[in-house]
Amino acid sequence: MKKTILSGSTVTGDLTLGNYIGALNNWKNLQQDYDCLYFLADLHALTVMQDPKVLKERTYSFLAQYLALGLDEKKNIIFVQSQVPEHTQLAWILTCLTPMGYLNRMTQFKEKSEKHVKNINAGLYTYPTLMAADILLYQADLVPVGEDQRQHLELCRDIVGFFNNRYGEGTFTLPEAYVGKMGARVMSLQDPDKKMSKSDENEKNFVSIIDDPKKIEKKIKGAATDSGTEIKYDVENKAGLSNLMTIYSVLSGKTYAEIETAFAGKMYGHLKVELADLVVSTLKPVQDKYHDLMKNRDHLDSVMKMGAERARVRATSTLKAVYEKTGLVL
Ligand code: TYM
Repeated sequence: MKKTILSGSTVTGDLTLGNYIGALNNWKNLQQDYDCLYFLADLHALTVMQDPKVLKERTYSFLAQYLALGLDEKKNIIFVQSQVPEHTQLAWILTCLTPMGYLNRMTQFKEKSEKHVKNINAGLYTYPTLMAADILLYQADLVPVGEDQRQHLELCRDIVGFFNNRYGEGTFTLPEAYVGKMGARVMSLQDPDKKMSKSDENEKNFVSIIDDPKKIEKKIKGAATDSGTEIKYDVENKAGLSNLMTIYSVLSGKTYAEIETAFAGKMYGHLKVELADLVVSTLKPVQDKYHDLMKNRDHLDSVMKMGAERARVRATSTLKAVYEKTGLVL
């Protein structure tokens, strides 16, 4: 029996190099050996203000990006969260088991409520219980995520404990985070002390998977680095440069030591030029495939439909067990 993997991305902005390196690239490698479900978290996107037309368009675009990045809709179950209503059904039950004190500790809630002061809604607060439902519905063993989602995963495990204490064990698989060794936290290009985020208002901070080559080049060449000259991996003193080296290392397969040797005696600018070329050439086939896929909405619709149907088979089976345990009449 293969282990089950589940992961997803919130449908905001465009997927970035951070998402690619921290998440989707790992998802792609895992699809060979695991039973994988990958979804588009559109309900999570509603926790911040969304233009309905843009959200809909972006959902198609994200699906096309998933497929273009190499996720296979036949090998995996790829689906849109809102098309599987069991997510919100289970989320409510889990919300009723989760003490507010646990939600108060979530750093993402604190950060987002500072950023969106005019829209601190209850969904932003209970977001982690919906995320727990996403995972638990499918009995996922492993959840590949970047470092920023680790706290939500820990809470999901706590929620399994709350459920078990109240209703007894055996309903849910206890999931584990699967955080890649490299690139679990790709940093912003202009401000390497914070993570690269697809919802960043300053687009110089991130490279999007579908940025054109000129834009990619400009953003990487303009990345903030220190005033030193030696190309050396040193996060404390050379945060910007080290971030570029991480991206270079993941995309080229070279170690930091190999990169340092290859660029010995060269300037930061040399690394930036080579990195920009590497990013452009890595993304070129992805972008070609993406543009092709975006021309065929019927195909994207049928991928969504098939994914939702397959996901619902599993989701309804878990929800049925939860209804029985909790005393809800089916
Ligand atoms: P999201 O959409 O912010 O990010 C998707 C994935 O990309 C990873 N990631 C990064 N990794 C490295 N460096 C970065 N700068 C970087 N930025 C993002 C994230 O860790 C994530 O793995 N709440 C989730 C979506 C979600 C989910 C789930 C994930 C909803 N339900 C259930 C797993 C399981 C989110 O907003 O990810």
